[in-house]
Amino acid sequence: MPYSDAILDHYNNPRNVGSFDAKDTSVGTGLVGAPECGDVMRLQIRVNPDTGVIEDAKFKTFGCGSAIASSSLATEWLKGKTLDEALALKNTQIVEELALPPVKVHCSVLAEDAIKAAVKNFQDKQPAAVAEAVGAA
Ligand code: FES
Ligand code: FES
Repeated sequence: MPYSDAILDHYNNPRNVGSFDAKDTSVGTGLVGAPECGDVMRLQIRVNPDTGVIEDAKFKTFGCGSAIASSSLATEWLKGKTLDEALALKNTQIVEELALPPVKVHCSVLAEDAIKAAVKNFQDKQPAAVAEAVGAA
């Protein structure tokens, strides 16, 4: 199957591989698995508690090349976004950017699910006052 240059670029040079301390209250961790294939993706965001802006993002993906490319792209897109903007990211944008073939669309869904899970995890950690300030209330 021919893969796009964008997939190969992110697969060969994945951006933002790594992890943050999941216990840090400024960090949100999303861990999701794809029922289709058993691949697992962990995506983390570091949020500025004063502004609610995502300052950094990292991922570790145990999965196929398209899942790695999708999560690499997602971490790039997340930096500088608000939590609401992050929640608005759609897997279809990843599909378009990477030109994913139909059988690999679920790999991009994994990335969208991981973003949502990371935001929720961050919001769940915040005390009520902070949660309100960053739009979680
Ligand atoms: Fe084998 Fe995704 S199905 S790595
Ligand atoms: Fe399952 Fe890519 S995440 S094949």
